[in-house]
Amino acid sequence: EARASEGKSAFDFPEVTAGVDADHHVAEGYDADVLFRWGDKLFADAPEFDPLKQSEAAQQRQFGYNNDFVGFIPLDGADDHGLLVVNHEYTNEHLMFPGIVTVKEGKVEVAPATEDRVNIEMAAHGGTIVEIRKVDGKWQPVLDGRLNRRITSKTEMTLSGPAAGHDRLKTGADATGTRVLGTVNNCAGGVTPWGTYIMAEENIHGYFKGTLPEGHAETANYKRMGVPGGSYDWADFHDRFDLAKEPNEPNRFGWVVEVDVMDPNAMPKKRTALGRFKHEGAESIVAPDGRVVFYLGDDERFDYVYKFVTAGKYNPDDRAANMDLLDEGTLYVARFDEDGSMQWLPLVHGKGPLTTDNGFAGQADVLIETRRAADLLGATPMDRPEDIQPNGTNGRVYVMLTNNTKRKEPNAANPRVDNAFGHIVEIHENDGDFTAEAGKWEILLKCGDPSVAEVGATFSTETSVNGWFGMPDNCAVDADGRLWVSTDGNSPSDTGRTDGLWAVDTEGAARGTSKLFYRVPVGAEMCGPCPSPDMTTFFVAVQHPGDGGEDWEGFGRPSYYEDLSTRWPDFRDDMPVRPAVVAITRKGGGKIA
Ligand code: FEO
Ligand code: CA
Ligand code: CA
Ligand code: CA
Repeated sequence: EARASEGKSAFDFPEVTAGVDADHHVAEGYDADVLFRWGDKLFADAPEFDPLKQSEAAQQRQFGYNNDFVGFIPLDGADDHGLLVVNHEYTNEHLMFPGIVTVKEGKVEVAPATEDRVNIEMAAHGGTIVEIRKVDGKWQPVLDGRLNRRITSKTEMTLSGPAAGHDRLKTGADATGTRVLGTVNNCAGGVTPWGTYIMAEENIHGYFKGTLPEGHAETANYKRMGVPGGSYDWADFHDRFDLAKEPNEPNRFGWVVEVDVMDPNAMPKKRTALGRFKHEGAESIVAPDGRVVFYLGDDERFDYVYKFVTAGKYNPDDRAANMDLLDEGTLYVARFDEDGSMQWLPLVHGKGPLTTDNGFAGQADVLIETRRAADLLGATPMDRPEDIQPNGTNGRVYVMLTNNTKRKEPNAANPRVDNAFGHIVEIHENDGDFTAEAGKWEILLKCGDPSVAEVGATFSTETSVNGWFGMPDNCAVDADGRLWVSTDGNSPSDTGRTDGLWAVDTEGAARGTSKLFYRVPVGAEMCGPCPSPDMTTFFVAVQHPGDGGEDWEGFGRPSYYEDLSTRWPDFRDDMPVRPAVVAITRKGGGKIA
């Protein structure tokens, strides 16, 4: 095989032409088959999806909304049989419920929320675990698979780790500070080396309403997290989302959630040791000494890059021995220095400024207010850290920084003011050891259109007009160590482009060359890129197709415009647009080249 070290791209597929239309498009020679759509049955007894007869009970047995992270967990080591795990990040009411949006005198109005509608939204959030099998080269759902499961914003979970049981996590419904209902805004995620499913809680602020009592101790903490965001009306029907009624509930969100997929009754666990912020994802790798390292982005303008190193070591021969590895370890935040070196600063109570004098009575406070602790340590404010992916084949780590149009002061790792298109930082951990407390970094790519000089993009000259992208969001490293990047927002109306999945060379003379492999229908963003371990399938998640996307300045808030030029994926007048997971395979089989 020709490899990048010879100056040639590591990717052979014929590039897709950039553009935007009602359908999705994949490279010639490949098939893109819709595998799960919002509303699809996960159990034989689930009702067929009917957009006019939605109910909470039905949604709890059907595939949820706005698929984001996708992971594949093989069953019995098989390549053609496993569990697909999928996050359902948020809901777009204006796209979900036919007839609730009206335009009066040029003003868009959304019908007031009802309790039924809110409960459907809550059931459409969370995650799906579903068995799939490849038959004659095509993936099929296994309805009624023993491990099939929906996790929603009402699923009972435990809080574990150093902050569990702390007074700041106690509520009227939970005097122990260890039990919480549900998870929200699960954006990216991860699959651990021991085969559990990680759901990261990102924009949690939007679910809360109401005001804290005057002078309440959590005022500054919630302000730093944007709580209450008031994007959803859940608080009108569920008191726990109303700050005036349950002032501690927001402290029970913003964590990393771990789910044991092999036990459909296992209670998901919110792992407080990994900190509380707007968690984008949690991709992991086993270090040479057996400890496991999780890379964590906090997706907000001027927030930080983190990693968590377990105290214990991964045991590949005893799954049960790994099940609480995420309760003990060290959380670090990154400082990227101007000379290309970097430091991982430990967030440990009593170290440096993380003291009682500064309002941290113990490690629980450091974790509940991770952002403030990281501020005090002098971490480097970044341009919205999204997915972060370690690469075991070259010891490097790729950090997606999606954009930051509010940046006025550049720093070396975020060198562009008004960074509209984002960039990718590559970390080289010292000695290739992912547990290292110091390393080096460089910029792999400054994104955007390289033909516009002012943009300052750095794609290689081999990159075609179809190959450049902006707004890197999710990414994946395949079994051959190749980088794939998916985008969110690479579709300003004047560019005639939409989001998609790009293959990016990182090695040799081809470094910085990018090629378009797949693009989404109008209004959608591209999430979840998940290569199967044998590289014969790429699972991708098409999120919010048909969304007008006019108003994302306060992100986390759904906009209320619908692009009626697409009815993807059903193309039926009686069916709304539906987010869906797509399985991409090579025609006639074989590896994705
Ligand atoms: Fe939900 Fe940071 O993207
Ligand atoms: Ca994301
Ligand atoms: Ca990823
Ligand atoms: Ca996104």
